[in-house]
Amino acid sequence: MSRQLIAGNWKMNGLTADADGLAQALRDGVGQVGDAAELVVCPPFTQIAGAVRILAGSRFAVGGQDCHMAAKGAHTGDIAAPMLRDLGATHVILGHSERRQNHKELDETVREKVVAATEAGLVPIVCVGETEDQRSADGHEDTVGWQIKGSLPHGFADGPGVVAYEPVWAIGTGRTATGDDVATMHAFIRAELVRQFGDAGHGVRILYGGSVNAGNAAALLAVPEVGGALVGGASLAAADFLAIAAAARG
Ligand code: 13P
Repeated sequence: MSRQLIAGNWKMNGLTADADGLAQALRDGVGQVGDAAELVVCPPFTQIAGAVRILAGSRFAVGGQDCHMAAKGAHTGDIAAPMLRDLGATHVILGHSERRQNHKELDETVREKVVAATEAGLVPIVCVGETEDQRSADGHEDTVGWQIKGSLPHGFADGPGVVAYEPVWAIGTGRTATGDDVATMHAFIRAELVRQFGDAGHGVRILYGGSVNAGNAAALLAVPEVGGALVGGASLAAADFLAIAAAARG
């Protein structure tokens, strides 16, 4: 199994002074973390260039939080995958539940973005996860199964792409899925990936996200089939993010 990937999603946080300070603190502190984890931070678009500059030559890769499906053109306000690559980003989060909800992104949209990101040489981190209502109605596996089928393009498992399971009810709420829930859902996602992509589906990393913090990271990262973590709030404090990174398995 490949190294665990610990990815920080800064979401819409970080004016220049804060973002630069956070990147510098990560750079300064990463030496104490051990080298088990692969590390990436995903600042807002406006802070990507700064993060790339500060983290250059460190163990941290830098990613975006979204990209358009077209490589360029008349799409006012959007950012294309080659633009992220041009800034030095190597990863991009796609299909986050906040974009699925706030921007009405459909699986098909996410799939087209994954293709664009891959063509631009970015590693897509594709988010899936059920809402509280879907879980209460026992629809979590169906929901996530359809998201996987719809959001991942042909050949996804042959590339470096990553899937992130983020139950919507666990995001920013302080409620994490139990170890048993995470184990069940990650096993389900693995089976879906193998069904869709054959043997190559075994190689796709599956991250867990949703209220991961320095206190619960070790337990979550020890669950079978958990290939890393996608961290929101706790990625905004360098000490917390580095503690999560330190809990990763090689
Ligand atoms: P929190 O870690 O703040 O719950 O956010 C998770 C998330 O949405 C990461 O993409």
